[in-house]
Amino acid sequence: MDLKTAQPPLGLLAELTHRCPLHCPYCSNPVELIARDGELSTEEWLSVLTQARELGVLQVHMSGGEPLARPDLPILVEHATKLGCYVNLVTSGLGLTESRLDDLAKRGIAHVQLSVQGATADRADRLAGARAHDRKLVSAELIRKAGLPLSVNVVLHRQNHDQLAGIIGLAEEMGADRLELANTQYYGWALRNRDALMPTRRQLEEAEPIVRAATERLRGRMEIIYVVADYYEKYPKPCMYGWGARQLTVAPDGNVLPCPASTAIETLEFDNVRDKRLAWIWYQSASFNAYRGEDWMPDTCRTCDRRAIDFGGCRCQAFQLTGDASATDPVCSRSPHREVVDLILATQAKTDELVMRAAR
Ligand code: SF4
Ligand code: FES
Repeated sequence: MDLKTAQPPLGLLAELTHRCPLHCPYCSNPVELIARDGELSTEEWLSVLTQARELGVLQVHMSGGEPLARPDLPILVEHATKLGCYVNLVTSGLGLTESRLDDLAKRGIAHVQLSVQGATADRADRLAGARAHDRKLVSAELIRKAGLPLSVNVVLHRQNHDQLAGIIGLAEEMGADRLELANTQYYGWALRNRDALMPTRRQLEEAEPIVRAATERLRGRMEIIYVVADYYEKYPKPCMYGWGARQLTVAPDGNVLPCPASTAIETLEFDNVRDKRLAWIWYQSASFNAYRGEDWMPDTCRTCDRRAIDFGGCRCQAFQLTGDASATDPVCSRSPHREVVDLILATQAKTDELVMRAAR
């Protein structure tokens, strides 16, 4: 345990539900979703929000699944806002009507993140597994009309990289303040589809000048964030900016996770808000302290000059690719396991067939 390095968290990812109207093959939620009858009640979520604020949380991301599937969303938004939190809604836009959005805005929603799957309706709907694209365009218009800041989130992969320029153009038309273009991270359901989603090196090379030119052209109007495809990188991403360092996730059933994908790490056990106080879980629990600070690091990372930059990379990825969550992230060129990633890249791309996310 390394209590010395534990600071209060800045953000809470509140996964209100795993229910979702879309079937995206790149979904990073776990393969086994939590059913509706396993979800926290309204009172339990209100308590989670109060405890989170007491713990120091300032940003609350209401997410899912689709948070609009919870009828008590307005109550939760109002409560978090009254506590003094900045509340962000992460949504597919399906189920968003003018009256629901006005109500949410009155209760304090400060920002909306809207997911988009592609530049054209036929492609986007195929990737979402639902007729969703046109409704998202309407949702974007409603969000702008309500005067709320809008971020458009797009997960990139081999089957939509060719639409990158069109996606940027679409985000402009939607009036987005911010566009996040994130290459797929292979956790949860997405890992199943890795062969069909992994972009080619050529696609990534072609993306770079497109993103660079758009960033220049749109400076001051629309911020563009580009999240790289880390399997192709020399060094790993600074995942979560360190384990148990800045953010915590509360899953729909009340399990408290150091990272949204961490249920993939089968060697960890998670504590639940139904049994323990959030502050105890953040500061004292075995799961939050497992990879906090540097004591857990293997020698490769502990003696490395980049350890304060990337914190040894991603624990979930280390577990998924090596079976050991305390290994150096195999994406790292200094990792003794880098050959695992090179082998995946050398042998992938044999199929375009997607396994769509099953509904809950
Ligand atoms: Fe990061 Fe560890 Fe690789 Fe160094 S060896 S770059 S700390 S993952
Ligand atoms: Fe879990 Fe990186 S996704 S630590």
